[in-house]
Parts: sequence; C-alpha cells; structure tokens
Amino acid sequence: MTLFLEMYEGVQKRKRLDVVGISEVVTVFIDAFASDADPLLALAPLRAMDEYTYTHSTNVCVLNLAQATAMGITGTLLHDIGIAAMLHDVGKLFIPEEVLNKTEKLTEDEWAIIRQHPVTGAHYLLDIPGVPRLAVVTAFEHHMRYDLKGYPPVKVNWQQNLASQMTAISDTYDSLRTKRIYRGSKEFQHVETVLRGAAGSQLNPQLVENFLQIMARYHDLETKKAEQSS
Ligand SMILES: [Fe+2]
Ligand SMILES: [Fe+2]
Repeated sequence: MTLFLEMYEGVQKRKRLDVVGISEVVTVFIDAFASDADPLLALAPLRAMDEYTYTHSTNVCVLNLAQATAMGITGTLLHDIGIAAMLHDVGKLFIPEEVLNKTEKLTEDEWAIIRQHPVTGAHYLLDIPGVPRLAVVTAFEHHMRYDLKGYPPVKVNWQQNLASQMTAISDTYDSLRTKRIYRGSKEFQHVETVLRGAAGSQLNPQLVENFLQIMARYHDLETKKAEQSS
C-alpha cells in the first residue's frame, strides 16, 4: 500500500517511479496466486480498500493476472502483464487535478486532455529504466479498442497487444464494479451483459469469454461462502 501511494505521489511531484517497489507488489500478487487453493480469493481483500488510484491499479493488476494465469501464462510474461496493469493509467497523473476531479460534465477541450493520458503515460514510461516494454505498449493501447476505433488513432493494420486487450477488459470491469449499481448475482448478470455487448467491437471476444469464465467461478465461490455464513 505505502509503496503505491509513494509511487503516485512521486509521479505527481514529477519524481522518478519506484520501479523496484512496483515489481515487488506484482510479485506478492503472483505468489499469493500460486499459494492459494483458489487464486481468485486474492480478489476479495481488494474490495475493502478505498484509495481510488491504488485500488483501481491493483484491481486491474489482479484481474490481468487472473486472466493471464487462466490462459496458462507464467514467468516473466505474467510478471510484465501485472506491471503493465499497475502502470496503465500513469498518464492520468499528468492531467490537471481540476479536470480529473471535475464532477460536472466535461467540455470537449477537457475530454481532449483526458484522451491524452495513454500517449503521455507511454512517453513517461519510455524514459524510466526497468519498466518492461509491455508496460509502455499497454499504457499506449489500453483505450484503443479491439476495432481500433478508440484513442489514440492508429493505422488500420495496427495489432493491439494481448496485454492491452486484457487490460481493457479489467479496466471496463473495474469501472462497472466501482459504480456498484447492483450486488450479488444481479451484479454478475449486469457485468456479463455489458462485457458480451462489447465483445468484438470494444473488447477481444475470446478474452471476454475467458474473463467471464473466471468471474462465474468467483461468483460461485462467493455465493457458497455467503450461504455457509448465513
Ligand atoms: Fe486509462
Ligand atoms: Fe484504467
């Protein structure tokens, strides 16, 4: 927790990122995944945390690791996918606070500033020694969409990286869950509808199926736990 808060404060003060610190957080998650009877149990404690930036980044990290683990990815690639998730929104920290925290409707100019965070983040990460290339790519591509109709604009034959596609799913899921419109099975149904609706346009359809299988398992686990405790 402290490592992360330090990291974000550091970015705000335009200091260097603590790459070693981030790497340790990801390793802790991966170890927890390897030792737990069910790796998805690692998702639960994250729900209790409150600091927004930390929560969002760590949630996306855990969700990416869950997706990648389910696909049989291990080792350095798994680690880099986790780091990429942790750093995907790093460019947001260069958005002026009054724009980032604005509660009223954003103007077109303000949206334009928000839409710069993938490019700003990728540029920022490029300069930092120890940051995996995959994190630079993911920061750049996470709002690109599967059909490449997102931002930043790219040429038609651009190949969006798998890590960026996973991050887009984790990101969508985390924002749905943060709104907390529904709970329990209604929440799961809602997530399923939204993600299936975005499969093939905004999101990679195979990765969406992989993600929903994980979520279905997690949901079953939670339901069983709730039944046992009632
Ligand atoms: Fe973003
Ligand atoms: Fe994000």
